[in-house]
Amino acid sequence: MRIDELRLFSFRNFSTFHVELGPGFNLVIGKNACGKTNLLESVYLLSTGKSQRTSSIKEIIRFGESAARVEAIGSAGERRVEMALSISGASSLFRVNGVRHDRKKRESPIPTSLFSPDHLRLIKGSPEERRDLLDGILSQINPIYAHKRASYSKVLRERNAALQRVAAGKMNSEVIELFDDQLIPLGKVIVEERAAMVEELSSTASEMYGELAAGGLYIAYVSQLYPSLDIEGSFRERLKERRPAELARGVTLVGPHRDDLLISLGAHEMRAFASQGEQRTACLAIKLAEAKILERKFRVRPILILDDVMSELDEARRRALMERVLSGGQALLSSTNKEYFSQFELSRAEVIDLG
Ligand SMILES: Nc1ncnc2c1ncn2[C@@H]1O[C@H](COP(=O)(O)OP(=O)(O)O)[C@@H](O)[C@H]1O
Ligand SMILES: [Mg+2]
Repeated sequence: MRIDELRLFSFRNFSTFHVELGPGFNLVIGKNACGKTNLLESVYLLSTGKSQRTSSIKEIIRFGESAARVEAIGSAGERRVEMALSISGASSLFRVNGVRHDRKKRESPIPTSLFSPDHLRLIKGSPEERRDLLDGILSQINPIYAHKRASYSKVLRERNAALQRVAAGKMNSEVIELFDDQLIPLGKVIVEERAAMVEELSSTASEMYGELAAGGLYIAYVSQLYPSLDIEGSFRERLKERRPAELARGVTLVGPHRDDLLISLGAHEMRAFASQGEQRTACLAIKLAEAKILERKFRVRPILILDDVMSELDEARRRALMERVLSGGQALLSSTNKEYFSQFELSRAEVIDLG
């Protein structure tokens, strides 16, 4: 799958913009604040229905305008795919070949894997970032997962509100069990899907890490409910145990919303021991693994989007990364500086100069 043409209208700092992309390595070059990340965001948005920068889609509309639009013409094998996303206020309309789709609940017509300097928080940041990584991969692969994950969040919010009302004596405690009956089966699916994904992610990321540097990268799934032969049973059991603490704090203390990933290099947990360079390499390896996993699932190379990563890597890792980028599939890389690239690499690039 690839995008051949992209058009932006009132999108971020672009008033109107048209670009033809090459099938391989596309290099988006330009000084700070010229719109490199915005351009990559438009592709990511078409792919995933979400922005990597904001959860409030109306921020994308160019200042002073009331609507924005992204259009792309691409191809999946022999098939031509036309996509258009219109954003007006907080609402959006997404069409693929003229047919309306729900922006957030669809199988991705163009799988992508995006890496930006923000992802460096993956290792040292909060568990939420690592859960988002897993959920992001699973949601691209499996729209049912995306749907169940969203339902879980909704039930969780309602359950938390109910806990607070019960604690305040405004509601009978039986209502909590009604929420448990919804939360538990949704939680089971999330735990099972995540556990399977972590296995694949760990082995694939370990392979990718090996391409970039020496060392064994391992990722393990950390969940209160896994491993367990009876996830639903232990979920219910633990909710019962923690009920007094939950009432005292007004939040749900058991469930996959508290999961985490343990990322280690050799025998050592990276959060505590890894150097900056090792963290960067691990984050990049994890993102390249995501691309590989999507490729296995969709049987096409996803679009690899690498926002400003060259400046984060040392010379050896840049070359290793570029080898992967040039090995096939469409890639969009942004950089302020052409000097990070060799003559050979530049000769293979479609250069998009934003000035
Ligand atoms: N909704 C918007 N309307 C107009 N300009 C915007 C909007 N959102 C962001 N910008 C501008 O886009 C610029 C940043 O673009 P960005 O893609 O982050 O640059 P870079 O090339 O450094 O990646 C900033 O000057 C910012 O003010
Ligand atoms: Mg940028």
